[in-house]
Amino acid sequence: MNAITPNPFDYHQFVNTEEGWIDRRIFWEETIYQRELEQIFAKAWQFVAHDSMIPETNDFYTTYMGEDGVIVSRQKDGSVNVFLNSCPHRGNKICLADEGNARNFSCNYHGWGFSPGGKLLGLPNEQIVYDDGDIDLERWGPRQARVDTYKGLIFATFDEEAPSLEEFLGDFRWYLDIMLDHDEGGTEFIGGGIKSYINANWKFGIENFIGDAYHGAWTHDSGARALMGESLPVPEPAGSYQASMNGHGWEFGTDGFYDLAILGQPKILEYYEKLKPKMAERLGELRATIFGSLASVAMFPNCSFLPGVQAFRVWLPRGPRKLELRTWTIVNKNMPDEIKQAFNIACNQTFNPAGIFEMDDGDNWEGNTSINKGVVTRGEKLHYGCGMKRRIEHSELPGVIYESQYSEANQRQFYQRWADLMSARSWDDVPTRYTPRYAGKPTRPE
Ligand code: FES
Ligand SMILES: [Fe+2]
Repeated sequence: MNAITPNPFDYHQFVNTEEGWIDRRIFWEETIYQRELEQIFAKAWQFVAHDSMIPETNDFYTTYMGEDGVIVSRQKDGSVNVFLNSCPHRGNKICLADEGNARNFSCNYHGWGFSPGGKLLGLPNEQIVYDDGDIDLERWGPRQARVDTYKGLIFATFDEEAPSLEEFLGDFRWYLDIMLDHDEGGTEFIGGGIKSYINANWKFGIENFIGDAYHGAWTHDSGARALMGESLPVPEPAGSYQASMNGHGWEFGTDGFYDLAILGQPKILEYYEKLKPKMAERLGELRATIFGSLASVAMFPNCSFLPGVQAFRVWLPRGPRKLELRTWTIVNKNMPDEIKQAFNIACNQTFNPAGIFEMDDGDNWEGNTSINKGVVTRGEKLHYGCGMKRRIEHSELPGVIYESQYSEANQRQFYQRWADLMSARSWDDVPTRYTPRYAGKPTRPE
């Protein structure tokens, strides 16, 4: 995990979880952003696609890991390859399409040809243009990433030294099961993905989903009244939590139905009323009550979802002041079609670029970012001290647990992990800040 350039800073100076503040420069400075690309996006496991997006042999999807374009491609044997979308000749993109099915890829410039798995297959007019020994095709394919999956989600990293995906996710897998494994058929993405752009630092998206239940009742008040005819209630802290580990986090209530109800689709409620007892058998009572409650979730570094609303997204960084948001609707494969459609409509009415809640958030994050143009402003700190004293131990919930979903506990944990990775010279330098309960063990009774 050698940094490309020497790492001169301890980035913990930008994040103080004891006093509860963050230095604003991490949302603005180009040099910090470049370090994020090297220390976080070139090293951490990142969500790149859902299995259902590339079900058939030779299906592919193009996306980014940091600012590195990649092709995610299904192989004949069912495995997935992820490799740089850049031709090793002069660097042009190998594939210009967003997604599709291809028996091979050919570069637009001189026509070098690549297999769906990213092997360099041949060069046009090779016998005339090249002499024997000029190029070893085996050696000159685009760089391959390490790939692993967790219950339908495909992850990749370019760091050979990174820990396994299992270790990287840690006990977050126990929580992920609530979303991905509450029904025996697993999940799928439906309706295609939507791309949009927000002039905001990528971390404002992720920190909102990791633990900002607080903004909902204020920011989304008019949206809530338009959608449901009433303001969002502010739930009592009892029975709600923030849970985090390794920079991933889930803030949630335990009433079981709040988020399902705000979608305003009676069919969805009926479906889950029937499914809940089976979920309880499959995952235990507690996890069955977490699903569908008011909740939001983020996986370090840049993937988020809303269990119950079924909105799933990645925040792709596009410089320190711009992000590309890609969103999907995630549903259970076994759901009847009409329930899938009800979710797709509800999800798009709420969390989509034209959705009732999405625009409220984007506008705020753009404001949070652009204000730092002022040098005096940028020299000030931001307050992240809400709920510092609510840390508890819980007999069932794994991770670092804080009582009440209204706190900034998960955000502090996210930024601590950010500073840990930004400052680390190797993965051995990255501290483990909680005791995993599920290391090497299944997270669900088989
Ligand atoms: S740049 Fe791709 S073939 Fe030359
Ligand atoms: Fe929001």
